Amino acid sequence: MNIILIGFMGSGKTTIGRKLAVRLGYRFVDTDRQIQREQDCKVSEIFAQNGESYFRALEIDLLKRLQKVHNTVIATGGGILTASCNLDLIRKLGTSVYLKASIEEICERVSRNNKRPLLQTNNQEQTVSQLMESWNNLYLKADFTINTESLRMSFIVSQIIREL
Ligand code: S3P
Repeated sequence: MNIILIGFMGSGKTTIGRKLAVRLGYRFVDTDRQIQREQDCKVSEIFAQNGESYFRALEIDLLKRLQKVHNTVIATGGGILTASCNLDLIRKLGTSVYLKASIEEICERVSRNNKRPLLQTNNQEQTVSQLMESWNNLYLKADFTINTESLRMSFIVSQIIREL
């Protein structure tokens, strides 16, 4: 079985995914980091040099190649479901979990660095709200949702394991 974590940028997919993989004795893949490794280039540079649609094509290609993995926790990029074929690829991969965080919490987390190209705007909070409004319904297509608000990481991991 595989577990695929989806959710907005800064919702904790990478950190929680790593801990979840350790607890389950699973492997861990972070799609952003894997793409960066394979392209030898940061995600922000891929966006700047080749544009968002090129990055989305890399995400689709990676999800297709991941179809053969087992016992793996996969943390995905926040915009992965904007490519409509990815929901199907994620469903085929395994159990999907939406890590839901509030706009306030996300804004606090994403303001710590400038590595997210879609959030480099004059009004980051407004951009987060707008993107969240259009992406939340996509995330809700996950097999189940975990509300991460103010919860300790270890508790979130336990909750995911309980729901599996
Ligand atoms: C992106 C999501 C981000 C990061 C980059 C692009 C996107 O991932 O890869 O800013 O537009 O899908 P996180 O959700 O891990 O922050």
